Amino acid sequence: MIDTINSQKIFGLLKKGSEKKIKIEVLEKATSTNTLLKEAASEKDEGFVLIAGKQTAGRGRLGRSFYSPDDTGLYMSLLLRPSIIPEQSVLITTAAAVSVCDALGKVGVGSTAIKWVNDVFVDDKKVCGILTEGSFNPQNGTLDYVILGVGINVYEPEGGFPPELQSIAGSVFKNKTENLRNTIAAEFLNSFMGYYNTLEKREYYDKYAGKCFVIGKDITIINNDEKTCARALGIDENFGLVAELADGSRLTLNSGEISVRVKT
Ligand code: BTN
Repeated sequence: MIDTINSQKIFGLLKKGSEKKIKIEVLEKATSTNTLLKEAASEKDEGFVLIAGKQTAGRGRLGRSFYSPDDTGLYMSLLLRPSIIPEQSVLITTAAAVSVCDALGKVGVGSTAIKWVNDVFVDDKKVCGILTEGSFNPQNGTLDYVILGVGINVYEPEGGFPPELQSIAGSVFKNKTENLRNTIAAEFLNSFMGYYNTLEKREYYDKYAGKCFVIGKDITIINNDEKTCARALGIDENFGLVAELADGSRLTLNSGEISVRVKT
């Protein structure tokens, strides 16, 4: 069975209305769809989607790389032109995480969970990463554009994940199904564009908080080389993670450069 990514098929699965705003280009291979779309941003309109069958230099958060082998993943970047200040870009990232869960739900995967701030997990393994990158306009303090990059490990890579990723990364499906990656891409866009149209209302907040498996757990906060033990208490209205330190004091973590490890 093959599951070919095809722009026409994705387009045909978009909700009425969304298809007016979305243009899709599929490449067999890219360095990084986020990098390529950034380079082309000045010539493209909001709603342009670049998808690649594989990435040779896929990028993740905090300067990490994102393993993007051929034929098994969905590597997709969406160009947005929201009127927001940089601090609000977390709304895009978190809406995207919920949209990935929505899209996987549409193809029968109900057991998705979100690791703050934007990793999607299935069966305790990370199956999706999200990288939101903005271009700051110093003249008005807002963002000229945002590139929303989503990478989903739809199937197990041929030969499995590299050893260093085996304990962390997982894939959503074992067997290939025709049109599955097109369906996931379209359902992601359907869901995301709905949330994006009313972004500041945060309509997806309850879904996000409900899926965020970090809440109530003991965590290690990692800020550069500094590690701090804490307990995750909840998610505030700006999607900050409210945590309690050993001395009882509370702090709110914002996505930035901080990462969190859940203690098991
Ligand atoms: C992470 O896990 O830290 C984020 C990974 C984001 C990967 C996606 S794949 C499509 C887009 N292009 C990239 O180079 N990165 C994002």
